[in-house]
Amino acid sequence: MSSSFEIQPIGRFAGPCAPVKRPREIACFSYDDKHQFLLDDSSIRYYYPPTLGADLSKGFDTFEKLDDSGDDHLDSLLKTIMAHEQKTGSRVEANIITWRGMMTKLMSAIFSDRDGFEMNATLFQGTIFIEENHEYKLKSQAKQSQQVPQPGRPSQDMMSFWGYKFETLCLLPDIWANTSREYIEGRENLIVNNHAQYCSVVKTGIGNTALILGGEVDAVWDVKPSDGSPVNWVELKTSAEIRNDRDMVTFERKLMKFWIQSFLLGVPKIIVGFRTQDGILKRIEEIDTASIPGTVKRAGKGTWDGNMCINFASTLLEFLRSTITEDGVWRIRRRERSPVIEVFQIEEAGHGEILTDEFINWRIKL
Ligand code: A3P
Ligand code: MG
Ligand code: MG
Repeated sequence: MSSSFEIQPIGRFAGPCAPVKRPREIACFSYDDKHQFLLDDSSIRYYYPPTLGADLSKGFDTFEKLDDSGDDHLDSLLKTIMAHEQKTGSRVEANIITWRGMMTKLMSAIFSDRDGFEMNATLFQGTIFIEENHEYKLKSQAKQSQQVPQPGRPSQDMMSFWGYKFETLCLLPDIWANTSREYIEGRENLIVNNHAQYCSVVKTGIGNTALILGGEVDAVWDVKPSDGSPVNWVELKTSAEIRNDRDMVTFERKLMKFWIQSFLLGVPKIIVGFRTQDGILKRIEEIDTASIPGTVKRAGKGTWDGNMCINFASTLLEFLRSTITEDGVWRIRRRERSPVIEVFQIEEAGHGEILTDEFINWRIKL
């Protein structure tokens, strides 16, 4: 079995926007500072503005970097869903369950011609579970780190460090009122460690497809309400200063990824730290996620369109649901610069390593 989804002509995705459901958190989990999985919100962080002028390169030599070379599949997401189902006594219903990162890749495919991806999918009890194909991820990471920077330019590893350093400069482990001035002012000297994460598991919907997505959220603006009302989540991003029209176009393209990533989990605010070419933090901009598509549209450069992203996602998800209808493991692939997304069966039975035995056994009993 093999099918292709044509991305072009993208004009067919213009027009009235497919309905979307506001994402609602159903559960969460944390990784602590040793990356141990915890079924709670202990790694939630609070936003407090950083001091401008900071050197984002400082501390690169002591960076405690998470080793992400192993394949985690959907394990943490499945554990969290299982615990949620044990608590409520009923199954969470969704057409598709995956990491937010996979959904971001699918949804942005309409306007990002260069990016490729490979995912594995399996159908179980009427739900399609999608994971990243780990070999593909390792290959693209290796390709990226092999890129030799221009003389005098920072390495890919350094630029990636800037993002984590920026997070360290912006975050508090507790609300502001419980945090000392020494802590706030000393954030520049903290050792950067990217092992801890807070992950939100949300129920959402695009068009006719109900989704459960898990993804990291960087921080909360104030506090997380205990009554289940929407959370003032904050996404942190770094970006190069915009010096000319060409930079503006590059930034607009980045904004699409920022917007999709935050839109999918219902993160209402994005804080962008603009930096110099050498990684000096110059300026902070607070951007309302919902305002991004309109701003980009009014700028008139035509790099992307939010409604079209949603309509594209809606159609693509329906295609996946009408293709992945049998047992086994399926590959969802887009080759770099390819005009099609291919879906084909790679194993005829079972669920590969996408689902854990623990999850399958729990679900069969439920
Ligand atoms: P920036 O994107 O702000 O530079 P996220 O923004 O998704 O919370 O990710 C936090 C940081 O992780 C990023 O910060 C970046 O530094 C790093 N990062 C995320 N995805 C990456 C990737 N594919 N390759 C290298 N670094 C990445
Ligand atoms: Mg993050
Ligand atoms: Mg971030």
